[in-house]
Amino acid sequence: MAPMTRSRADHNGNVNDLTVTYYTQRASAGLIISEAINISEQALGSPFTPGIYTAEQIDAWKKVTKAVHETGGLIYAQLWHTGRVGHSIDKNGVLPVAPSAIAIQGQQHFTSQGPKQYETPRALETAEIKQIVQDYKQAAANAIEAGFDGVELHAAFGYLPNQFLVESANHRSDEYGGSIENRCRFVSEIMQEMVDAIGENKVAIKLSPSIPFNAIIDSNPTALYTHLIAQLDKMPLAYIHLMNPMFPIDNLPQYPKDVIGTFGTLTRHLVMANGGYSKNTGEQELEKGIAKMISFGALFLANPDLPKRFELNSALNHPDRATMYGGGEKGYTDYPFLGE
Ligand SMILES: Cc1cc2nc3c(=O)[nH]c(=O)nc-3n(C[C@H](O)[C@H](O)[C@H](O)COP(=O)(O)O)c2cc1C
Repeated sequence: MAPMTRSRADHNGNVNDLTVTYYTQRASAGLIISEAINISEQALGSPFTPGIYTAEQIDAWKKVTKAVHETGGLIYAQLWHTGRVGHSIDKNGVLPVAPSAIAIQGQQHFTSQGPKQYETPRALETAEIKQIVQDYKQAAANAIEAGFDGVELHAAFGYLPNQFLVESANHRSDEYGGSIENRCRFVSEIMQEMVDAIGENKVAIKLSPSIPFNAIIDSNPTALYTHLIAQLDKMPLAYIHLMNPMFPIDNLPQYPKDVIGTFGTLTRHLVMANGGYSKNTGEQELEKGIAKMISFGALFLANPDLPKRFELNSALNHPDRATMYGGGEKGYTDYPFLGE
């Protein structure tokens, strides 16, 4: 099950009993990757997203992981820092932080007061970057304390790690900017620290090399991700989660369309493919032999018993966009199981 933000935590970033039900209903996934979880107060970009940096938040997650394990499932925590993809309205008036003071143009942010223009973020000091690396390390340790089986770094879709990687968001002149090697440093350091904190084969990463969403543009994504994957290959990771292009990229000819074929073949790690798969296209992807796992997002959101439905070739429930983010049980825990 692919990671999916559902925005149903309370004001203090605690998940509740509905969240326990939601994940437990989907425990047949084999492996659930949780919704993105804020590693610190600074990391938060959107209202009602959960955290894993207070004792109360960790205790709330314990109920989820215990229930999933008792139902026979495994669950990884996806760790999140949104960087410039946030708004001061939902950050107690504090500006979002980013590698450089460059605002996202051409998109709006969904805040608790409706859609708003992005603000120009505050550029991080070098010492602050090192502190955020430590925040990820602590969050990884907290995730294990909360009973998660491992962690996945959210380095996709334009959030903070992705902002460090690309030219459009990173104009730094210190060791975290400039060359490809420097732009990859933040992600590499986080991954190494998390491995040091929680051990081998428990740390994973999600990448979206061909997704320009959130103003993520690079002149040479192939060189960038080739370097990054080589760095990651030096570490004992659980898997690399690769997301296919989900937006039109015809005007970005340097962006590879076949992400699994281009980047999945570069790594020695287990590849998890994601993005737009059905049962049939997922099986076709596995038959190519590059990806060893497929993750399903929207289909799992709407079908708590997705593996059973695939097995029986049953009809599928359709995901309801209106209830994806926020609210209560409607569109969260009330999708019917087969036969209901
Ligand atoms: C409601 C919703 C929330 C999502 N939240 C996250 C998230 O927190 N972290 C993440 O990496 N991807 C997130 N995604 C993207 C999914 O993990 C996945 O990459 C995407 O839906 C494509 O897979 P699919 O075609 O199987 O749905 C979200 C997708 C949906 C539909």
